[in-house]
Amino acid sequence: MTEQAKLPVAQLRVGDQELDLETMAATAGNTGLSIAPLLKQTGLVALDPGFLNTASCTSQITYIDGDAGVLLYRGYPIEQLAAHSTFLEVTWLLLRGELPTAAELEAFEARVDKHMYLSDDFRQIFSVMPRRAHPMATLGAAINMMAGYYPESLDPKDPSAVSLATVLLLAKMPTIVSYIYRRAAGNALLYPKHGQSYVENFARMTFQLPGEKFEVPPAFYRALDTLLILHADHEQNCSTSTVRLVGSARANIYMSVSAGVSALSGPLHGGANEAVLNMLAYIRDHDLTPKEFMEKVKAKQDGIRLMGFGHRVYKNYDPRAAIVKQQCDAVLDALGVKDELLAIARDLEEVALSDDYFISRKLYPNVDFYTGIIYRAMGFPPSMFTPLFALGRLPGWMAQWREMVTDPTAKIGRPRQIYMGETGRDYVPLEQRG
Ligand code: ACO
Repeated sequence: MTEQAKLPVAQLRVGDQELDLETMAATAGNTGLSIAPLLKQTGLVALDPGFLNTASCTSQITYIDGDAGVLLYRGYPIEQLAAHSTFLEVTWLLLRGELPTAAELEAFEARVDKHMYLSDDFRQIFSVMPRRAHPMATLGAAINMMAGYYPESLDPKDPSAVSLATVLLLAKMPTIVSYIYRRAAGNALLYPKHGQSYVENFARMTFQLPGEKFEVPPAFYRALDTLLILHADHEQNCSTSTVRLVGSARANIYMSVSAGVSALSGPLHGGANEAVLNMLAYIRDHDLTPKEFMEKVKAKQDGIRLMGFGHRVYKNYDPRAAIVKQQCDAVLDALGVKDELLAIARDLEEVALSDDYFISRKLYPNVDFYTGIIYRAMGFPPSMFTPLFALGRLPGWMAQWREMVTDPTAKIGRPRQIYMGETGRDYVPLEQRG
């Protein structure tokens, strides 16, 4: 905390005790209120389930204005990056804080390109895992395994080790994700090719069939790259906070990112895009109208939610959803795909946006509402949607982890609790229990 940022503006009265609480001005968004002296001076702890009001860190990476529907990476609007940048350039930006020069970008791309290969020993993990294993289980395991393969890149306090680990993760992730897909499909694993772009390599290693060329329109690659950009960071969401929390114990970057993969696998987080398609297929298969389905959602029948709607931070249209929605038509057109689920999704959105239940709760489409439809048109099965999300989110996880390990004020994450259980009971021997 800098001296200028410390302005005692909040007073908290606890009984006859008065506490001055310092605030920290943000460059944009909510001002912070430091409760650091709370426990020591009052014996109280703050209770904030789900961290709705709690900032766990200061950060310079990503800014979201949820009410205005704004998302900035290092100050640059997501709309500009999606329209003009590439995933690797955005990765550099997130990691380093500035856009690269042409020479820096070229060297970075070449370094990533060089490391995409996975050794034959490493590749065995894909045949050890059952074909029916959820891809996120294999992805987490493969990333953990990298910690065993690259011991020279483990020390969080060694910048060159961290730089190497960052490039290794970035380079090997598309290869790993493509192998997970090929193993499930029963196809041989292909090698990365030098000279192909990041997304070209990934798509070819994923989809190319024996004896055939893999050829798709440029719109395919552009859309894939854009989707990765849109997912690249989203400040302190569940998986990113998990990465930071695990990393705060000085766990290496692979173990920390793998923990992020685990968090992302949940249907309320990264699993939502898969859940959206399942929901749309359910509506189609049960011949429901959007209105009929909406009645189930509003009645909270069996906990049904409109998947792909609502967000902890956005109380407006998610700016990423707007970009995906625009892309959806272009990609489906270029690929010559007609999808009945897209029509259902559009109808659902229209009904939801004019329904009081959604309006009053400020529930709008999030990034996942239309991404699944694009991925499906590209040929990915729903079970691969969350690994694709992870591929996109990797730069954010790594940038946030790197920011934390270089922050001299960072401490091991260790929340408190309000204990509500039994107190001070005596053990009763088994034979005396009724
Ligand atoms: N469908 C129906 N009702 C909803 C939805 C939804 N998708 N989302 C929130 N609500 C309702 C809740 O039932 C609650 O209603 P109540 O006030 O009557 O109890 C109210 O809106 C507030 O919801 P919370 O769950 O408290 O909001 P929270 O911020 O905790 O949850 C979340 C955000 C998890 C994203 C939620 O909106 C949700 O479950 N959405 C569907 C899953 C989804 O799309 N997840 C992807 C998120 S984006 C991402 O991870 C990339």
